[in-house]
Amino acid sequence: MQNHKRPASSLIFIFGGSGDLNFRKLSPALYNLFIDEWMPTKFSIVGIGRRPYNNEDYRKHLLNGVQQFSRRKEGETGAGKWQDFSKYVSYLQMDAEQDAEYQKIADIVKEKEKEFGEHPNVIFYLAVAPQLVPGIVSKLGPLNICADTKCTRVVVEKPFGHDLESALELNKLLASMFDEKQIYRIDHYLGKETVQNILAMRFANALFEPIWNRNYIDHVQITASETVGVEGRGDYYERAGALRDMVQNHILQILCMVAMEAPVNFEADEIRNKKVDVLNAIRKINTEDVHRYAVRGQYGDGWMQGDKVPGYAQEKSVDPNSKTDTFAAVKFYIDNWRWQGVPFYVRTGKRMHEKTTIVTVQFRPAPNYAFPAESADTWRPNRLTISIAPDMDIRLRFQAKRPGQDMTLKPVDMIFSYKDAYEEHEPEAYETLLLDVMEGNATLFMRSDQVQASWEIIKPIQDTWAARQPVDFPNYAPGSWGPEDAEALIARDGRNWVTLPAPHKE
Ligand code: BG6
Repeated sequence: MQNHKRPASSLIFIFGGSGDLNFRKLSPALYNLFIDEWMPTKFSIVGIGRRPYNNEDYRKHLLNGVQQFSRRKEGETGAGKWQDFSKYVSYLQMDAEQDAEYQKIADIVKEKEKEFGEHPNVIFYLAVAPQLVPGIVSKLGPLNICADTKCTRVVVEKPFGHDLESALELNKLLASMFDEKQIYRIDHYLGKETVQNILAMRFANALFEPIWNRNYIDHVQITASETVGVEGRGDYYERAGALRDMVQNHILQILCMVAMEAPVNFEADEIRNKKVDVLNAIRKINTEDVHRYAVRGQYGDGWMQGDKVPGYAQEKSVDPNSKTDTFAAVKFYIDNWRWQGVPFYVRTGKRMHEKTTIVTVQFRPAPNYAFPAESADTWRPNRLTISIAPDMDIRLRFQAKRPGQDMTLKPVDMIFSYKDAYEEHEPEAYETLLLDVMEGNATLFMRSDQVQASWEIIKPIQDTWAARQPVDFPNYAPGSWGPEDAEALIARDGRNWVTLPAPHKE
């Protein structure tokens, strides 16, 4: 028996219970929480969907997802608990668009109350297409369970809205049914160990904070590249694009972790206040300047690791003349005392050279360089690289003397690697986030003002891109680092994108 406090008894309804997110992420996460004895002693998970399943078939279907996507597979050492876990899982076939159907949910709550001998946390997880969210929320609202601000919670997946207006509308609708503290807006990047570790690194060490500002930092980069294409999600992606899908949420959240002021405590609202301060300080790009600050791209067809892959416009459910961005790069400035004049370059894309999420903090050069000119060949300023995924490490580059009689300098890396430092496997982001929802801890979730602020930042880019159709799509080859314009975006400032050399993957 692990020695930790479990959350209070919980009843979790998953809308989209027969969908992909539950199959790949939520069920494997809940299963791992169960193995690690983090699930409440009394709990029940109800998958809600339209497809017909009986409980037994539904459990079989979810087991299939666990076998493919869980960090621990059934039958492996340390797992083997599917039988026990799956008893807590059931399926409710219902049409979420029909008001009358919601009585079934109210009945299950009553039934579980009796079974548990107490009123449990009631969690509604909306793992459904964004266009279905408002309908479900407005039908859940009238159930008297929702008025219980302490126990009832609603989890909303991204994308949270489609643009500023729709996000505001959705916030308004949610606020009319739920109290803000009942609403958990998920950004799964915030559940990643390495993203949370940015706060530990910055605020649990005295070393970094004094130099973490415009006096010492030249610029910051965030790259979130993927090798996959749209993977059958053409329908969704056509309405999203890279800017909405990754920059508005995940990338801006990472940027906040890097740029925020030190919190006074680790209360949810304190952390979120500090993050929203960063978002509010990000300079809004004028529409006429968008071309100088933002670059978009779309992948064409070509070869990736020996395989022929289709271009974006040839993917399933994608308009052959699509102008949707599958790549976006933006240069942001944060107008506050700490960051004035320091550019934050971010980029993300599908079908790029490698799957990697890294943050690079590039320090300014040493102020005086007293070494003989011949030692200067490989001279480089200090750089801190935080690898978020798939590698999980932090490396600090500094100059060192090469052994020998000459004074020759060479950059070397000091590396902290999760793999080498810890034996235990890190939980998946969704494990952390689902546990937080059961515990009622909203620190890692987006508050309404954060969502609004991040859409406000993106809006001028979105509007300009919508008004001016790209003329050069497709403009990057699969397996590349994106369009040439993205290189130009940073090269114009005399800088270049950082990618880690291949050995980091060994
Ligand atoms: C999701 C996006 O939020 O994040 C996907 O909708 C993207 O398009 C995914 O592939 C990337 O997440 P991760 O954790 O694999 O980097």
